[in-house]
Amino acid sequence: MNIAERLNKVKPSATLAMSARAKAMKAEGKNIISLAAGEPDFDTPEHIKDAARKALVDGQTKYTPVAGTPKLRACIADFASKVYGTSIRPAQTMVCAGAKHALFNLCHAMLNPGDEAAVIAPYWVSYPDMIHLQGAETKIIPTEANNNFTPEIETIEKVLSAKTKLLFINSPNNPTGSVYPFEFYEALADLLEQYPQCYVVSDDIYHGLCYQGAFTGIYHAAPNLRERILLINGVSKTYAMTGWRIGFLIGPPDLIGAMSRIQGASTSGVCSIAQAAACAALSGAQDKAQDMHSHFRERRDLIFEGLGALPQVSVVKPEGAFYIFPDFQDYLGGSLKTSIELCEYLLEEALVASVAGMGFGAEGFIRMSFATSTDEIEEALARIAKALKQIQK
Ligand SMILES: Cc1ncc(COP(=O)(O)O)c(C=O)c1O
Repeated sequence: MNIAERLNKVKPSATLAMSARAKAMKAEGKNIISLAAGEPDFDTPEHIKDAARKALVDGQTKYTPVAGTPKLRACIADFASKVYGTSIRPAQTMVCAGAKHALFNLCHAMLNPGDEAAVIAPYWVSYPDMIHLQGAETKIIPTEANNNFTPEIETIEKVLSAKTKLLFINSPNNPTGSVYPFEFYEALADLLEQYPQCYVVSDDIYHGLCYQGAFTGIYHAAPNLRERILLINGVSKTYAMTGWRIGFLIGPPDLIGAMSRIQGASTSGVCSIAQAAACAALSGAQDKAQDMHSHFRERRDLIFEGLGALPQVSVVKPEGAFYIFPDFQDYLGGSLKTSIELCEYLLEEALVASVAGMGFGAEGFIRMSFATSTDEIEEALARIAKALKQIQK
C-alpha cells in the first residue's frame, strides 16, 4: 500500500510497545513486574467515577461543543488560575482527548513544513513524532545527568534559530523526573527575547506530582513571556485517569480557534461523560490525589535507594513525576550492546519490564516507572540486581 510519506519518520511508541509486551507476557502466565507503564497503578477515585455515572444517568450522552463543555472549561479556568497564580478565563481553554491530543493539535495548528521545533533530551517519545508529522524538523537540546538533566542556556542558544517556532518544556519530566529550577526559567525567558517568533510549549502534565515543594513552571517565572507560553495539562496523571482521555490547552484565542477547526474536522468534542468526570477531578475533593502523591513519594525514595545501591549504576533522584532514569552505560559494550538489548535481557532474565533510553534520546539509560506497589519495586530491584551480576564486566 502507498502510505503517506510523512509517516516515514514516525516510529511506534517505545513506551507503549514495552507496556504491551509486558502485558502479553503476563497474560501468558509469566510473573512479570512492569516498570514500563506511564500511568498510575491506582484506580480513578470513586467521587470522579460517581460524577461519570451521574452524567450517564442524567442523559449527558450527546455531542459536546468542539472546544469542551462550558462546565469543564470553567473548571479548567478555575483550576488553572490556582495552579498558575493568575486569572485564566474559560475562553482561554480548550479540551482535547488527552494532553497528547492537545499537543498534537497544537503542533498541527502551528507548524509548517520546514519549521523547526526544539526539544530537550531526554524527551517524551511523542514530541519528535508529532513534529515530524507536520513536516517540521526536531532540533535536540542535549542535557547532562550530572546537571540534573537541566539544559544549559548556552546549549539552548546554539540550537535556537530564526526558524524555531516552538520550544518544548516538560517539568516534572518524563523520562527523568527532573524539575527545572526557577532561575533556569528566568534565564531562558531572557534568551527568548531574542527569538520573538518562538513559542514555549509548557507540558505541565506532571504538575501534580512534585516532591520538593509546589509546582512552578515558566509561566510563574516569566510573566513577560506569558503571551508566548502555551500551557498543556490534564487529569491523566494527577487523578489516575489515563483511560478517560481528557487533557487541555491554555492559550490565546487564535490558537484555540485554529485547534477547534482541526478538532471539528477530526474528532469533534471529547466524550461527554469523561468531561463530567474531569470536572469532578479538578473541582472536587483533592484528598485522594494527595494520597496517591504520598505513595509515589515513598516509592520514589525506595527505588532511588535501591538503584543507587547497584554496582556501576548511577542515578539522579527524581523530583517529580513517577519515573527514574538510571544510567546503565557500564553494563553495555560486552554481550549487551544497547539499552534496548539490556531491557530485553531484564525482561527475559529478571521478568522486569522497563523502557530503553534510546527512545527518549538518551542511549545507555533506562526508564523505570515507580507507578507500582512498594512490594513489587522491592522484588524488581532484587531481580535486577541478580540479573546484572551475571553480566557485570
Ligand atoms: C510528558 C507527557 N506529556 C503528555 C502526556 C500525555 O498525557 P495524556 O494521557 O493526557 O494524553 C504524557 C503521557 O505519558 C507525558 O508523559
